[in-house]
Amino acid sequence: MFTWRSLIFWAVLVTATLSTARPAPTLPDQVLPKAKIDVESYSAHPGDLLQLRCRLRDDVQSINWVRNGVQLLESNRTRITGEEVEVRDAVPEDSGLYACMTNSPSGSETTYFSVNVSDALPSAEDDDDDDDSSSEEKEADNTKEYHAVAPYWTYPEKMEKKLHAVPAAKTVKFRCPSGGTPNPTLRWLKNGKEFKPDHRIGGYKVRYATWSIIMDSVVPSDKGNYTCIVENRYGSINHTYQLDVVERSPHRPILQAGLPANKTVALGSNVEFVCKVYSDPQPHIQWLKHIEVNGSKIGPDNLPYVQILKHSGINSSDAEVLTLYNVTEAESGEYVCKVSNYIGEANQSAWLTVTRPMAKDGWS
Ligand SMILES: *[C@@H]1O[C@H](CO)[C@@H](O)[C@H](O)[C@H]1NC(C)=O
Ligand SMILES: *[C@@H]1O[C@H](CO)[C@@H](O)[C@H](O)[C@H]1NC(C)=O
Ligand SMILES: *[C@@H]1O[C@H](CO)[C@@H](O)[C@H](O)[C@H]1NC(C)=O
Ligand SMILES: *[C@@H]1O[C@H](CO)[C@@H](O)[C@H](O)[C@H]1NC(C)=O
Ligand SMILES: *[C@@H]1O[C@H](CO)[C@@H](O)[C@H](O)[C@H]1NC(C)=O
Ligand SMILES: *[C@@H]1O[C@H](CO)[C@@H](O)[C@H](O)[C@H]1NC(C)=O
Ligand SMILES: *[C@@H]1O[C@H](CO)[C@@H](O)[C@H](O)[C@H]1NC(C)=O
Ligand SMILES: *[C@@H]1O[C@H](CO)[C@@H](O)[C@H](O)[C@H]1NC(C)=O
Ligand SMILES: *[C@@H]1O[C@H](CO)[C@@H](O)[C@H](O)[C@H]1NC(C)=O
Repeated sequence: MFTWRSLIFWAVLVTATLSTARPAPTLPDQVLPKAKIDVESYSAHPGDLLQLRCRLRDDVQSINWVRNGVQLLESNRTRITGEEVEVRDAVPEDSGLYACMTNSPSGSETTYFSVNVSDALPSAEDDDDDDDSSSEEKEADNTKEYHAVAPYWTYPEKMEKKLHAVPAAKTVKFRCPSGGTPNPTLRWLKNGKEFKPDHRIGGYKVRYATWSIIMDSVVPSDKGNYTCIVENRYGSINHTYQLDVVERSPHRPILQAGLPANKTVALGSNVEFVCKVYSDPQPHIQWLKHIEVNGSKIGPDNLPYVQILKHSGINSSDAEVLTLYNVTEAESGEYVCKVSNYIGEANQSAWLTVTRPMAKDGWS
């Protein structure tokens, strides 16, 4: 049987071995628990969701999770997403000493999590037994000592600004830095309701290490109230930020230079034209082809004859791409990506040239 101390000692040895050529520290066993080793204690009942989060420094370059000194692998119950490990439907065998080892230019760092999944765990109310010094508690030493702390804000002054007015297309980040023992969980609501990544185009990211939610390139429909809920067994706190998305100086659509690009392809090929559009207001995209009518390119109204091949709307998948299949020579010509919003319009053209395969054997 392992004691927690021997596990920690082992894990420290593993870390020391991994951390390059520095001479291995020759610390006596009994000094180790005092050597600034921070162990977070987690208790769970079988069936619980276990969430371990590693605090990352900003410059972290790599991360590795181990359990009892052995690399932790993903499985159908275990999910590793960099800084976070999630174990669904915990079983007693999931107990052990977990460690997250990070490397950054400023050094390597290891965080330990002692996890106990057991049916015999006391209920939340009885857990706060500070003065109960059972023999087990003594053996576990101060590394496992465990105070129940309800969640609290660690930087309330950083949360004072509640209303955030942000230009469209910017990245928005809200933070709720918190503490508590055991380490509290974090979730986010939008307008008081559960907020899932598929509720917005592009989703969002939650960075547990920094207690933040990140939404890239916000749009007006992202306006609303965002509430973080931070909770552990001993309490729940929440904070609401209000997001307003303002349109940047409105302008007509801007198209990326050089797109769509001229194409020269062999008869029967497939061709893809791409048009890259920048527009804060909702743009409408059309793909046109210049055509001839009765041998004329220009109509009586002095405008060129065009045919609409595709336009943005419910029916078209990716309006910024026009694909032509099995092209014929008749499809050669000028193609136009024409984009409009309520302020104005822009267009750019590309020419398609369809070449006939060389008819060397002379069947013309
Ligand atoms: C998970 O994988 C194990 C074997 O690796 C299998 O026995 C078990 O049924 C799987 N569970 C689920 C929920 O897929
Ligand atoms: C886990 O918790 C139970 C109940 O408190 C305790 O009996 C058991 O010894 C603990 N296991 C470890 C490995 O700490
Ligand atoms: C967000 O909260 C503010 C202030 O409490 C409130 O006036 C506003 O109606 C809320 N917005 C939504 C979309 O719930
Ligand atoms: C937020 O906290 C307040 C008390 O501080 C509580 O009344 C409210 O129900 C909490 N809201 C949520 C969504 O948990
Ligand atoms: C594309 O083709 C047209 C017509 O041949 C030509 O005028 C134009 O310069 C070409 N554009 C580029 C970027 O090559
Ligand atoms: C094309 O020419 C024919 C005959 O000259 C005429 O009947 C027809 O209306 C013309 N079509 C268009 C679109 O001008
Ligand atoms: C939508 O696409 C289908 C098949 O691609 C087509 O038959 C239909 O006419 C289109 N509807 C609209 C409104 O463009
Ligand atoms: C391509 O088009 C030609 C002529 O229209 C036709 O004979 C051929 O079957 C087509 N090929 C494919 C792969 O669709
Ligand atoms: C493209 O824009 C130019 C002005 O920049 C305009 O003269 C032309 O008619 C436009 N072409 C189309 C097909 O809308």
